[in-house]
Amino acid sequence: MDQGGAAAPEMEVESLPLETRCPPFPLRQYNGFWIPEITLRRGVPAFHSRFTPRPSDIILASFPKSGTTWLKALAFATLNRAAHPPTSEDHPLCRTNPHDIVRFVEIDFAFSQSADLEALPSPRLLATHLPYSLLPERVRETCRVACVSREPKDALVSWWKFIKKAAPAFGGDAAAFTFQEAFDLSCDGRCPYGPQWRYAVEYWEASVRRPDKVLFLRYEEMLREPRGELKRLAEFMGCEFSVEEEERGVADAVVELCSLDRLKNMEVNRNGRGKGKLPVNNANFFRKGVAGDWSNHMSPEMAQRLDKIVEDALQGSGFSF
Ligand code: A3P
Repeated sequence: MDQGGAAAPEMEVESLPLETRCPPFPLRQYNGFWIPEITLRRGVPAFHSRFTPRPSDIILASFPKSGTTWLKALAFATLNRAAHPPTSEDHPLCRTNPHDIVRFVEIDFAFSQSADLEALPSPRLLATHLPYSLLPERVRETCRVACVSREPKDALVSWWKFIKKAAPAFGGDAAAFTFQEAFDLSCDGRCPYGPQWRYAVEYWEASVRRPDKVLFLRYEEMLREPRGELKRLAEFMGCEFSVEEEERGVADAVVELCSLDRLKNMEVNRNGRGKGKLPVNNANFFRKGVAGDWSNHMSPEMAQRLDKIVEDALQGSGFSF
């Protein structure tokens, strides 16, 4: 696959560089990114050949552990606020984990070649972990894509914590996977969908080039200004909050409904499991939700090393985390 081309054929995947030290999936390096092998083998080709984009589709893109769950909840609650008022006790988010409401296209295709995305009513809200350059050209041309990005040290800590708990649900084992190992691999960009800096810069550049098609959000900014960032998201999705709604506190109610404390404490997210092919405990998606937790897991030397790698990689791009 080139920058906008077709998916890699089966034979080609075999010959791509392989990384097996990142539980739970083997990764293959493709087009500069380390992608789970199963996604590359099954999910990406089907996304390219079988997915029919609609102009009303909204795709939520994220590097793993950058705020995907939060963005899914916010986008769903905002887009569907007429049918499901955010103050309703019976809101779908009170009964269902955001990942079971907004599905990952390539993961659906990777595990079920008959993914029934065609049956979903418009406007469809879908998600992807794929880098911008690996999205089908037709998707980039047709759909709106909102990406959330996060500071790399925090995303790395969040990923390691998640994978330690969730690996068994993916059929893997991460019991012996140390933070030092995760750190060294990530410094080399060897983590799912890594390197993160390359991932972020692609979406950021696209958002600068085509602001009507690509929105770039930052997790830290969402923590600082949840209402302001939600309003940007709503406007981008074509369903901005009216003055009257603002006065009634609808945007605030969406922020409250989707807050970490609220979602984390819902029964479905405390004790439920994913309904898809990867039955992760929903609780694993909610942890601290703060900026700067990296300092509890990384020495200053480690932080400096990663910061330097990121800084060097981004030099001249105009982007910084
Ligand atoms: P931490 O592990 O740092 O706490 P993703 O959703 O992409 O998997 O990212 C997971 C991270 O987002 C976790 O970060 C998790 O706690 C945080 N998160 C999940 N839901 C959130 C919410 N509603 N608000 C803020 N952060 C949230």
